Amino acid sequence: MRVIRSVAAMQQLALSWRRRGIYVGFVPTMGYLHEGHLSLIRRATRLVRPRKGKVVVSIYVNPTQFGPNEDFARYPRDLNRDLRMCRAEGVDVVFAPTDRHMYPGLKEGRFSTFVVEEQLSQRMEGASRPGHFRGVTTVVAKLFNIVQPDFAVFGAKDWQQAQVIRRMVADLNFPVRIIVAPTVREPDGLAMSSRNTYLGPAERAAATVLFRAIQRARAAVRARPVSAVKLKRDLEQFIRAEPLAKLDYIEFFDSTTLQPVETVTRGTHIALAVFIGRTRLIDNARL
Ligand code: PAF
Repeated sequence: MRVIRSVAAMQQLALSWRRRGIYVGFVPTMGYLHEGHLSLIRRATRLVRPRKGKVVVSIYVNPTQFGPNEDFARYPRDLNRDLRMCRAEGVDVVFAPTDRHMYPGLKEGRFSTFVVEEQLSQRMEGASRPGHFRGVTTVVAKLFNIVQPDFAVFGAKDWQQAQVIRRMVADLNFPVRIIVAPTVREPDGLAMSSRNTYLGPAERAAATVLFRAIQRARAAVRARPVSAVKLKRDLEQFIRAEPLAKLDYIEFFDSTTLQPVETVTRGTHIALAVFIGRTRLIDNARL
């Protein structure tokens, strides 16, 4: 497995692969890998192996997708552990650039080109975390230009992110197929996330409230469609009953357009963000 730190070296390798017609699968991550990431890597590996292709994993905690009061500084990082995990999965290249390589001049105010999706990114995570998706689309566009993959795998856990990236790829004609792989959950339903490491034992127990809320919504729509306003009110109360939890948002929407719905039926998408203590967790599912 090769570990590449510089943009120029990664771009050169990607170019030489392209010239030789090598099929490339890409898994962008912010590191501190867990089973959720490994499932994305395995999906990429399964797709490239029959074609003798390559899998590239990027590990980069992208500063531009964090707000000023968010957890950029304390986001968990352990490159050596990540590299061991990637090696064990048979990854061909880990691209782990430094800030200096990815954003030369950012701190000095000499980086001024961003990619902005203006519709799907407005609600939910976009409304709660202003500037977040601008950072995501910018770094993903940069990574696609550097790695030049045939396809990229993203997790369904960040459903809105995946739809925003799909739209960016369609609008800006990136020749990259976007694959969205299912959320991986702990046995008690908590969606795997690097941020789960922030949780103390009581918070970890409380964090299942996100999945329990999804299950409650599922049960509510099993028999018949229900009003989104009523179901939201019920789930708000349900989450309020968990003392360590503070709701940020719950939305019911169409899976692809992300347009909110008035009536929730089977097949409607739910997404929610909840603070458990200081830790902000998100989850979503198709009901
Ligand atoms: O989903 C993530 O881990 C990040 O948002 C991504 C796509 C790697 C961009 O930094």
